[in-house]
Amino acid sequence: MTEESVTPFTPHDAGHVADPDDALEAARRECPVSRVSDVLFVVASDTDVRAMFRDSAAFSNRGNFTIGREDRDHAFPGITNLDPPVHTELRSRLLRSMAPKKLRALGPHVARVIARALDGLPPSGEVDLHRDYIAHIPSAVTYSMIGLPEEYWAEVEVLADALVEAVPAPETSMPEYDRLMELMGRVVRDRREHPEDRRDDVLDNLCFAALGEREMADLEVVMHLRQLFAAATDTTRALIANCVYRLLERGDWARVVADRSLLRNAIEESLRFDSPAQFMTRSVVRDTVVGECPVAAGHKAYLSIQSANHDEAAWGSTARQFDITRQVAVQHVAFGRGIHSCLGAPLARMEAYMAIDALMDHYPLMAAGHRATWEKCGGLLLRRPKEVWAQLVGDIPAVVGTVAGQVAE
Ligand code: HEM
Repeated sequence: MTEESVTPFTPHDAGHVADPDDALEAARRECPVSRVSDVLFVVASDTDVRAMFRDSAAFSNRGNFTIGREDRDHAFPGITNLDPPVHTELRSRLLRSMAPKKLRALGPHVARVIARALDGLPPSGEVDLHRDYIAHIPSAVTYSMIGLPEEYWAEVEVLADALVEAVPAPETSMPEYDRLMELMGRVVRDRREHPEDRRDDVLDNLCFAALGEREMADLEVVMHLRQLFAAATDTTRALIANCVYRLLERGDWARVVADRSLLRNAIEESLRFDSPAQFMTRSVVRDTVVGECPVAAGHKAYLSIQSANHDEAAWGSTARQFDITRQVAVQHVAFGRGIHSCLGAPLARMEAYMAIDALMDHYPLMAAGHRATWEKCGGLLLRRPKEVWAQLVGDIPAVVGTVAGQVAE
């Protein structure tokens, strides 16, 4: 296919959504701010995406995650759909439970979750690491950070995953949404009715106002918890899946096994190269100019995080290559920027590091599986391979032992 035959990206094209990179490159080359419907602009350059993340006066978070005229209306919008001053109040309240120091203190719990997930893997053979290992980790970490009683975990995970996959469809008409609301309503009422069970977790923070804070209705607490499930679980799974997939695909696994100091930067490069959250939406609240393009109030903008992170103007001619030694990988915009920048970034990074580090300890000779192929998962929001097929090979002493045994024979 020639460069000219690729049409610039639009989220209304299912083919572009499934395989966006060439269409995003065409958008950057031909029209970095392009109007794709009566209401929506796609913004594709690193400079414009960064500037819009930082300009919360001209660009509202109302309507985030939608691409049509309708917003996803809720009685109590979640934090990523709020603007100041309500957003400011909620963010500082959540920070009480999610400050970087608090999140890092979850380390021992993350290690236990990972150990349990590793126990479920066979010593050797071909497995889908996403299904059999990765998928179990971020949900267990998130639910525990929130304080969700363990008997709810399995069902909540299925319901919350179905809702993320439906973005940008109106989730309120889905049976999974009703059931999740019902379960979470029960969890909130239980905690409020049994203050003797109070613990230092997100549920407690939202259920019981501290001095000077506002009491929240049960439904409001439910909505904020529901937003956290979406923000913390599938995004982090995608990060771990993407990073493992690329390390295996490029033959970088052995290199990082041998020099674990490369792993942190490999995770940043993965966030840049395969951004787990592909986009955010902003509503334009006053007439303004993006790039050199006038944009009138009342429109929406699809901020392509993926395109910003592949922008040749920011990342050079190797922008579309995965390079674990890239010097400035950490400057990506995968966690957003400005007043809405990701509150969970330290936790996501820690989970990814610990999950991959543990895999490397157990399966240093792991290789891409015969069935490995990059097929993007469904849905508009997330980017990860549907499956991460890998050939597990036991630890070095076992393999060395086998080889030694063969030599002896
Ligand atoms: C690799 C994993 C993750 C990615 C790629 C990611 C990405 C993002 C992005 C792009 C935003 C900006 C939203 C906007 O500008 O509208 C955001 C916000 C947010 N993220 Fe994450 N996230 C991840 C993991 C997490 C985790 C683990 C948590 C919770 C522990 C979390 C909690 C949040 C919250 C609460 C916000 C809203 C902040 C605000 O609106 O002020 N995220 N995330």
